[in-house]
Amino acid sequence: MTHDHDVLVLGAGLAGMRAGLEAARNGANVAIVSKVHPIRSHSSAAQGGINAALGEGDTWESHAFDTVKGSDYLADQDAVEIMTQEAPRDIIEFEHMGVIFYRAPDGKLGTRAFGGASQARTYFVGDITGQALLVTLYDQILKAGVKVYEEWFATKLVMENGACRGLVALEMLTGELHVLRSKAVVVASGGLGRLYEPSTNALMCTGDGYSLAYRAGAPLMDMAMVQYHPTTLAGSGFLMTEAARGEGAYLLNSEGDRFMKRYAPNKMELAARDVTSRAEATEIAEGRGINGNVLLDLRHLGPDVILRKLPQIHEMALDYLGIDMIKEPVPVRPGMHYQMGGIKTDVNGATIVPGLYAAGEVACVSVHGGNRLGANSLLDTIVFGRRSGQASAQYAAQTVRSTAGEDLLEAEQARLQGLLDRPYTGETCAGLRLELATMMDEKVGLYRSDAGLHEALDKLREFRRRYENVAVGDKSRVFNQALTFVLELGYLLDCGETIIRDALIRKESRGAHTHVDYPERNDADWMVHTLLTHRGAEDPEIAQLPVTITRWKPEVRTY
Ligand code: FUM
Repeated sequence: MTHDHDVLVLGAGLAGMRAGLEAARNGANVAIVSKVHPIRSHSSAAQGGINAALGEGDTWESHAFDTVKGSDYLADQDAVEIMTQEAPRDIIEFEHMGVIFYRAPDGKLGTRAFGGASQARTYFVGDITGQALLVTLYDQILKAGVKVYEEWFATKLVMENGACRGLVALEMLTGELHVLRSKAVVVASGGLGRLYEPSTNALMCTGDGYSLAYRAGAPLMDMAMVQYHPTTLAGSGFLMTEAARGEGAYLLNSEGDRFMKRYAPNKMELAARDVTSRAEATEIAEGRGINGNVLLDLRHLGPDVILRKLPQIHEMALDYLGIDMIKEPVPVRPGMHYQMGGIKTDVNGATIVPGLYAAGEVACVSVHGGNRLGANSLLDTIVFGRRSGQASAQYAAQTVRSTAGEDLLEAEQARLQGLLDRPYTGETCAGLRLELATMMDEKVGLYRSDAGLHEALDKLREFRRRYENVAVGDKSRVFNQALTFVLELGYLLDCGETIIRDALIRKESRGAHTHVDYPERNDADWMVHTLLTHRGAEDPEIAQLPVTITRWKPEVRTY
């Protein structure tokens, strides 16, 4: 079947729904396509809060400087200025939409401290901030008449004369393929966390949008910049929000020592994430860990603060480890959390492909550079979601809709049938995915080396060959997750390859990219973004772009 809209948004997390709402407000006929129900989107897992310089004595310049310093000077400062200037109005708008942000005893919106910030400027709803924003935004898109194709899985972007004009999607309930035709597409499909094991990300975070846009001709930028969050729960890798440290929790080693005093004496546990994660890894490597973990100690905060402000992580530690954080410290370790790189866009979400926009984690504007500050991701989604929604609607108003139809549908149907028809060879999707994700964590994780990255690229090529032998066990049409898991693995392989190749290019250490063969930041050669463009069976084309500096020259970065 075919369906017609002006603007299609892929992904119903915060960036996607915010884009959809704004495009509708700008007069577009909008539809959102999501492989899960909108309020199951991974934005709901964002715990700690959202940043804005809204309080007395705070300024957008201070927020911008902290963000640029946090990025290890790789963020584009014009984009950071826009994000930090527009943050207060976007937070207030969400409050007016109905988000019940925490209020301080004086009745005003209250904040908590977060890592790398010189002021407490993180607004929050307990430790379920993402969920609170998401539910509220869902109400808003329904009110605005935005159509949602929920549990529809995107398999391809529709390209016509070099422009993006829609997408092909599998209706998971029926197994039917549809062509959704449009004038513009906003890719807001979230991150790729499940390329790594363990990860704080939901199982659905499989890099779909990166791969679809890359294969449609949009360059991916700074893909090497993969963030490890300092406090993920031992074993499962679930997020233990940075808000715990914002509220005053300590990080301890096996000697009971607050080791951050040796790595970040001014900020202690609230240094930027790359710094804190490396500090933990050093403690563990030097024998001061506890079974490969360090301890997050909240006991001194008392039951009132823990149960009122951090109830979700209290419950998670209890459920998954049987540890009551009111009485005992919780074992945590650095774990994959966020991709700073992504589809290269301008500050309005536009890519170089006409009609193709991107926003949220999948995009690289670039406001996070080499390392994102905690609570700047929710902000990124709502500022650049809004901007891309407006820009895509304006673009759509001046362009024609796709005429794609049955031919495209048949070609895509034949491709999927080819996957379904593969004979079983013993190669399983789950097995290959786990091998890929374990390899990424070991060789392309917190520390990288030239030798390890070359091994990773060889492995990736081997995985690609083996992927051709992965059969789809379930041959039925109804909710065939065996099929969508295989498609997701294809997306993950593209993401893995671009991360490894980008890491091989950057011969320095900056932000999250810690290269043991090049341990120093090298501003003379590497104040540049790196871009990879898909070239079919050939290796991707590599390009560089200078970092935009408006007012903050690179300095030595200490906390
Ligand atoms: O720790 C956290 O609550 C995560 C927040 C973020 O990644 O922005």
